[in-house]
Amino acid sequence: MRRQLIAGNWKMNTNRASAAALAEGVAKAAASITDADLAVSPPSCYLETVGKALRGSRVALGAQNMYFEKDGAFTGELSAAMLVDLGCKYVILGHSERRHIFGEDDPLINKKVLAALAAGLAPIVCLGELLADREAGRTEQVVRTQFDGSLAGLTPEQICRVVIAYEPVWAIGTGRTATPQQAEEVHLILRRLLVDKYNGEAANRVIIQYGGSVKPDNAVELLGQPNIDGALVGGASLKVEPFLGIVAGRKR
Ligand code: PGA
Repeated sequence: MRRQLIAGNWKMNTNRASAAALAEGVAKAAASITDADLAVSPPSCYLETVGKALRGSRVALGAQNMYFEKDGAFTGELSAAMLVDLGCKYVILGHSERRHIFGEDDPLINKKVLAALAAGLAPIVCLGELLADREAGRTEQVVRTQFDGSLAGLTPEQICRVVIAYEPVWAIGTGRTATPQQAEEVHLILRRLLVDKYNGEAANRVIIQYGGSVKPDNAVELLGQPNIDGALVGGASLKVEPFLGIVAGRKR
């Protein structure tokens, strides 16, 4: 069985003190969890603080974004090497908020994915359809295009180091989750794409998370689906209790 990954995406929330306290709380509560991987992604200005709070724990550090260039005149941006330097293992790329608020497209996300992999980071690559796409029956087409575009040019070895997060945009922060069946259907499409574009081994190994209003009370059903290997959690990752409640809902 693939190891599940449950990752918190704190987005633009917390402050220095609350980020440290949340990280310490998660680290402490996670001490006994050995059958799944956990990560938290604080705002970049608190990566160092949170990294310190997580030191020696089972919880990995992730960033929410990065730029693909190595260094230079890119005001406001962070490189993959900087994230590695801060102790990050993961970086979330292509989140729907980056795509839809900040205009990131697949070619840009692809460059970031390749740069993250080259630096030794594990990219968590997000994709998912808008409500209008789903209602028009275009879900498969949209996730296929995002898969092809944001993961272009990866070798089978590289794809195995990628985490894919299926996040239907209409379910993010809305309290409206995909049903376990709706989510599983798309995860299966993604699994088949991995077979077609890479090979069976890659398809077996790549972790595909679900994200979009995951809560303790829907975690068991969602995470129980055969092709859902964990969750990318926004709102419910901002407090220890609901986040660990979701972790408790993992497949066992
Ligand atoms: P949500 O966010 O859990 O608040 O819906 C998920 C995400 O954006 O990764």
